[in-house]
Amino acid sequence: MAESKATLSIDGIVVADLPILSGSAGNDVIDIRTLGNYGYFTYDPGFLATASCESAITYIDGGKGILQHRGYPIDSLAKQANYLEVCYILLNGDAPTMTQYDEFVDIITNHTMVHEKLAHFFQGFLPDAHPMAMLCGVVGAMSSFYHSDLDIEDPVQRMRSAHRLIAKMPTISAMAYKYSIGQPFVYPRNELSYAENFLHMMFSVPAEEYVVSPTVARAMDRIFTLHADHEQNASTSTVRLAGSSGANPYACIAAGVASLWGPAHGGANEACLKMLEQIGTLDRVDEFVARAKDKSDSFRLMGFGHRVYKNFDPRATVMRETCHEVLKELGIKDPLLDVAMALEKVALEDPYFIEKKLYPNVDFYSGIILKAIGIPTNMFTVVFAMSRTVGWISHWDEMLGQAGQKIGRPRQNYIGEIDREFIPLNKR
Ligand code: CMC
Repeated sequence: MAESKATLSIDGIVVADLPILSGSAGNDVIDIRTLGNYGYFTYDPGFLATASCESAITYIDGGKGILQHRGYPIDSLAKQANYLEVCYILLNGDAPTMTQYDEFVDIITNHTMVHEKLAHFFQGFLPDAHPMAMLCGVVGAMSSFYHSDLDIEDPVQRMRSAHRLIAKMPTISAMAYKYSIGQPFVYPRNELSYAENFLHMMFSVPAEEYVVSPTVARAMDRIFTLHADHEQNASTSTVRLAGSSGANPYACIAAGVASLWGPAHGGANEACLKMLEQIGTLDRVDEFVARAKDKSDSFRLMGFGHRVYKNFDPRATVMRETCHEVLKELGIKDPLLDVAMALEKVALEDPYFIEKKLYPNVDFYSGIILKAIGIPTNMFTVVFAMSRTVGWISHWDEMLGQAGQKIGRPRQNYIGEIDREFIPLNKR
């Protein structure tokens, strides 16, 4: 079949014939790499219509509410697989056999401890430091500990760093929490599952036995699964961009953590809960909905809207179910949940939100679940970062394994002064 081309004409004059590339699903893309030769660049701040890479990891159709990892639909994964199975799938491309799965769990379990000196890093933080600040710093510091993983040209070393990161993120995250509340760090326990182990490191204390609730562990695992990857979002693109310069994996993941922290991205779960607390009671819901619609007010309904999903967020559908299950099983009656449900109802019925296709996203429900299972609000984004680490490192590994990779280097539309005469300081 002849290759399709897009013809670019300016003022009626044909400037360039650009190849059109087709992936296995989703929109075709116009290959504009040669456009600079014709004296033009494209302008797309916020990457509204720009594909920055080829990837075989995650597919999203925002219009239809489809999310698939390596071709497996997210609701099947959330309901039939556990988080470590999903990690294996993201990293390796296919669902593992039982033997492969057991081996993988064994590898991750055996990498959960961190070097004692890494634990000393926490002493440099003030106890009221935000745990995301600690996570950024300590994850970056991992580069100074695991020298045997730093040859990014070697696929074996890349995979080893991926395993280390997936294994150690819960340990470091729980340490950030323990440090902030003045409790001793709790070491990982190898007989526990990934989710159980995180809860154990978060909530157990040396003075007494801690028994992990199966309901809570299941909910935690589902939260991890639903946050594992989301193709080229801001933090993943940040990791790719950092990695494109040849930076080491730990530095790249630290960059991802930083990018995730903002309230428009991973910080939305924390911001959503703070918003629910700010609204406080049912009678104030309308006031806040009105503020969200008022263009002179910068207030937005946190946990609503998504750049890609314009019908519903498939992660939110599963998370909503989990949210109700967890609250019922734990017998929790929280007035904030009533506020959340009222907000959800108003937003789903209000023409402003319908027209702009603003639906509750994954972070709307995950914040409520995390609160119900006792995770402190300032740890919400840390939980997201832990879960997303596998996505970040899978994309980083995919990029480095592809031939002909170039450093990421966008162009700009320069709008500043030019050719000014410089007058020395003593003459100005
Ligand atoms: N509340 C009120 N209005 C909103 C909201 C909101 N949450 N989100 C978007 N809008 C309006 C916005 O004012 C704009 O209106 P207009 O066209 O009249 O100027 C229109 O909807 C489009 O918004 P946008 O900011 O241009 O859309 P975007 O695709 O650039 O941003 C978003 C997507 C997620 C950053 C945005 O919807 C938002 O800020 N939501 C709240 C934060 C949030 O929940 N983020 C978590 C996303 S899911 C987790 C993740 O994957 O990171």
